[in-house]
Amino acid sequence: MSRKSPSLSIVFALFVLLIAMTSVGSYAFFSSNETIKDQPIAFSHKSHAGEQKIACLYCHIYAERSSVAGVPSVQKCIGCHEMIEVEAQEGVEEVEKLLAYWEDKKPIPWLKIYDLPDFVYFSHRMHLNAEVDCKACHGEVAEMVQIEKVSSLSMGWCLKCHQKQEAPIDCNVCHK
Ligand code: HEC
Ligand code: HEC
Ligand code: HEC
Ligand code: HEC
Ligand code: HEC
Repeated sequence: MSRKSPSLSIVFALFVLLIAMTSVGSYAFFSSNETIKDQPIAFSHKSHAGEQKIACLYCHIYAERSSVAGVPSVQKCIGCHEMIEVEAQEGVEEVEKLLAYWEDKKPIPWLKIYDLPDFVYFSHRMHLNAEVDCKACHGEVAEMVQIEKVSSLSMGWCLKCHQKQEAPIDCNVCHK
């Protein structure tokens, strides 16, 4: 054995360690990535709001009238899916999941993506009345297969737009 082999194996061991660290690191990165969550059904905004051109407010009916926008009931989905046949096989399997929730009379446990802490007051209605578009806060949803969180929802993010649009910035507007 030459004298080089121990140092070579050290180099090799360090190399393996480096690979392991980067893959663990990237695993941690992806699993802590909150922007994309696996929903119980692979619902696509791109196909519904984009290709089918279904209006946002048809499904998120409360956005105009209340603080929450709300997510549609299973019944709303069934209203269409009782009648239409989905073509792609992947889609058929997802629609079967939808029908199972309907038959079991269970709500679909969608995961929330945009979520403010409870001590912050926010209302959709006020923003829609002021003609702030969904896009300003949620991005190009009609192009998203899966919802991506495009805004931090930090206080600085709210204030930046409030200052720009001359909306109130007093503390008690958002902290009651
Ligand atoms: C206004 C009618 C309508 C409503 C309401 C509706 N869908 Fe659809 N959905 C469609 C159409 C049309 C397609 C596309 C069919 C095709 O291209 O094969 C589709 C496709 C799908 C697919 C197949 C994959 C894809 O995106 O193409 C799934 C899964 C699905 N819808 C789930 C849902 C769920 C869950 C709801 C309720 C939250 C819902 N749909 C509400 C009309 C509707
Ligand atoms: C056919 C019904 C339907 C239409 C049309 C629709 N949505 Fe949705 N939306 C859903 C469902 C179901 C969810 C929950 C599943 C998910 O996150 O994809 C959702 C989730 C969302 C969320 C994330 C909510 C959260 O959990 O924080 C946003 C933001 C959103 N939609 C915005 C929009 C906008 C903007 C439009 C119009 C461009 C739109 N949606 C059109 C059904 C719909
Ligand atoms: C000024 C920014 C802003 C605008 C404009 C806006 N949203 Fe939101 N949206 C938010 C915030 C912030 C939340 C989180 C609210 C919370 O957790 O209390 C949210 C939450 C949601 C949710 C999750 C369910 C809920 O009600 O909390 C949906 C769905 C949604 N928005 C859809 C829409 C749609 C559709 C539009 C346009 C009609 C829209 N939003 C316009 C900021 C906005
Ligand atoms: C893209 C711009 C924009 C963003 C982002 C935004 N807002 Fe607003 N907000 C407005 C506008 C415009 C008004 C309407 C002002 C008016 O009618 O006088 C408003 C009004 C409000 C009001 C009602 C104020 C009143 O008249 O009493 C509250 C509460 C509020 N916003 C909270 C928030 C919170 C909390 C966030 C962050 C999570 C936020 N906003 C993010 C533009 C924005
Ligand atoms: C337009 C809305 C808005 C206004 C106005 C506003 N805040 Fe906030 N504030 C928020 C939001 C949204 C958060 C939550 C941020 C987060 O979750 O990261 C927050 C968080 C906070 C926190 C908690 C910080 C933390 O790290 O937990 C404090 C303290 C606070 N705000 C104080 C204030 C004070 C003081 C004022 C007035 C000078 C003010 N806020 C004005 C929206 C607002």
